[in-house]
Amino acid sequence: MSLQPPQQPGFPSRDVLSSKQRRAPMRKTRVVTLVGVLTLVVVAQFIVFPFFLSVVVNQSNQLTLPDYTSFSSSSSAQFKLPNRKADGFFNKVPIYLEKGSPTSHVHCVGENYQPNAWKQRSCRFHNLCFNTTSQEFALFDSPREQRLAQYLRQREFLHISSALRRNNMTLQSLSLGGTNLKWGDKENGIGRLKWFPSIQDSNSIDSYYALPEWIIWIPFHSMNGANPGHLVWDDFFPIYTLLDMFQLLPPLDLDAPGFSNTFLFPMRYVLKGGKGLWASCDLRPEKTELCRKMMNKFLGLLVGKHYPYQFTTTQDFSFHKHNANGPDIVCARTGVAGIASLTDHGINKMHGWEEEDYLITHNHGRGGSLYAFRNFMMHNMGFIGKELLLHHRVDADGYIRHRIVFSQKSSDIYNRNLDFERQIQITREFLPAAQVEGYVFRNHSLQEQLAIAHDASIFVTLCGGGAVTAMFLPAGTSVFLYYSERGGVKNNKMTYKPAMLDWDLFNAMSHLRVHWLPRDTIREEYDERLLVDLMRHELSLMDAEVFAKTY
Ligand SMILES: *[C@@H]1O[C@H](CO)[C@@H](O)[C@H](O)[C@H]1NC(C)=O
Ligand SMILES: *[C@@H]1O[C@H](CO)[C@@H](O)[C@H](O)[C@H]1NC(C)=O
Ligand SMILES: *[C@@H]1O[C@H](CO)[C@@H](O)[C@H](O)[C@H]1NC(C)=O
Repeated sequence: MSLQPPQQPGFPSRDVLSSKQRRAPMRKTRVVTLVGVLTLVVVAQFIVFPFFLSVVVNQSNQLTLPDYTSFSSSSSAQFKLPNRKADGFFNKVPIYLEKGSPTSHVHCVGENYQPNAWKQRSCRFHNLCFNTTSQEFALFDSPREQRLAQYLRQREFLHISSALRRNNMTLQSLSLGGTNLKWGDKENGIGRLKWFPSIQDSNSIDSYYALPEWIIWIPFHSMNGANPGHLVWDDFFPIYTLLDMFQLLPPLDLDAPGFSNTFLFPMRYVLKGGKGLWASCDLRPEKTELCRKMMNKFLGLLVGKHYPYQFTTTQDFSFHKHNANGPDIVCARTGVAGIASLTDHGINKMHGWEEEDYLITHNHGRGGSLYAFRNFMMHNMGFIGKELLLHHRVDADGYIRHRIVFSQKSSDIYNRNLDFERQIQITREFLPAAQVEGYVFRNHSLQEQLAIAHDASIFVTLCGGGAVTAMFLPAGTSVFLYYSERGGVKNNKMTYKPAMLDWDLFNAMSHLRVHWLPRDTIREEYDERLLVDLMRHELSLMDAEVFAKTY
């Protein structure tokens, strides 16, 4: 066995290295030139660049607001100002024709060296591109990247988190969306979510359209966007977490409304090769329509209520280029994907119908991010400052007037569909100082739902997707979740075990005190007394500010 290094195409040979050494003295003058050039560049950044910026801003009053409100202060070499008219629009986002090819890079986290690593992995992309003809994402390779691939081919135990390929010459891979165990862990089930953009040689194109730098492209597969609980906790929350992981969350000033310096650009990914997965958005046209409606109703939570762009799937996007012969490639400087293990239930269990769902806790330590996510969504919908905090209403006579909100008929499913009329009546009778209100939330706009929840003291609902509104209560308040103590289901058969849906997520929400109440005995006098006493207990904690901030 020889110990010679494997010959790598493109790897600099010893000769080249030594000839460089020999030439070293001659490099002095080059260094001087280089320093000169660098100084010029730095000077240019401080003088020319701001000047240039002010000219552009002054001249750009014909641009729409999102065209220029969001200049980042980045001085990266790739930073491109929209200092000219857009060459078209992609989902209403201006696009700019660029010569040459972008160079793509990736940075992935979550590796576990197992065959299922793709479900755990999340990646951030630099220059994530979309082929509008094939409706598929693409990355553009560089020679340096290709050289890394050669090392990875030779070294089984080498792992590079910023390479497009893995050590056995497969591509990196990730899961486009949350996984539903009912799809089965097979190629035509959960396996359909395994994904990575295709890799193309950068010589393969000579031009492309660039999106503005403030766009963060987020392709995702929706697990079941027609249900608000699944939408917020299996799509939006993992997307929020993904952005947080890569320091891509726009810095929020919770005391002030306003534009952030990035725009999220989510796009619902439609799987290729056959109809959609069970209960997902592309199963049937009716389901697709339900998803579209629900997603448009709730989208503001993720992207802001004055979002200027269009939210579409990877198939029904709008693409207008001023030059009809322009390229079919659109690229974003920044993209992210890979959310399966970031959903509220993770990749090894589901929401709580089955006994096994209780064996794994998935949301340890997420209370802080759930509260930050709550504030992020409310800020996106226009709530700022004190509106995000609990501010008790105080009567003229000085008594605190708590709002107790009942979510009526929160589910279409028969045994979860309660109107709480009796409980509302009892609460009014025994807690006369409180303001007791009942709503059928699905009949209210998102803005109204948030307005109702944002300063309630107690929120009473049945568990399930409709309970999502509960998470908008302010910190220090209480949520009462009625659940079916014998409603468990496995393989479409009743197991008569408790079905505390989304227990794992709710029990991680430390900004709320979450209580689970059995629903089978809800009409018994004993349970009615229990309800009243628990409410009194919770309100007294709030009045005495027992769990208020200590600083
Ligand atoms: C290597 O690639 C194959 C598919 O080509 C894959 O099944 C396997 O998990 C990969 N091995 C590692 C260690 O990633
Ligand atoms: C985009 O996809 C189409 C269809 O697969 C293909 O013919 C075309 O070459 C692709 N465009 C580029 C620039 O690769
Ligand atoms: C709520 O909307 C449903 C239809 O989704 C309707 O049948 C019901 O009457 C409405 N309820 C109220 C209280 O408005």
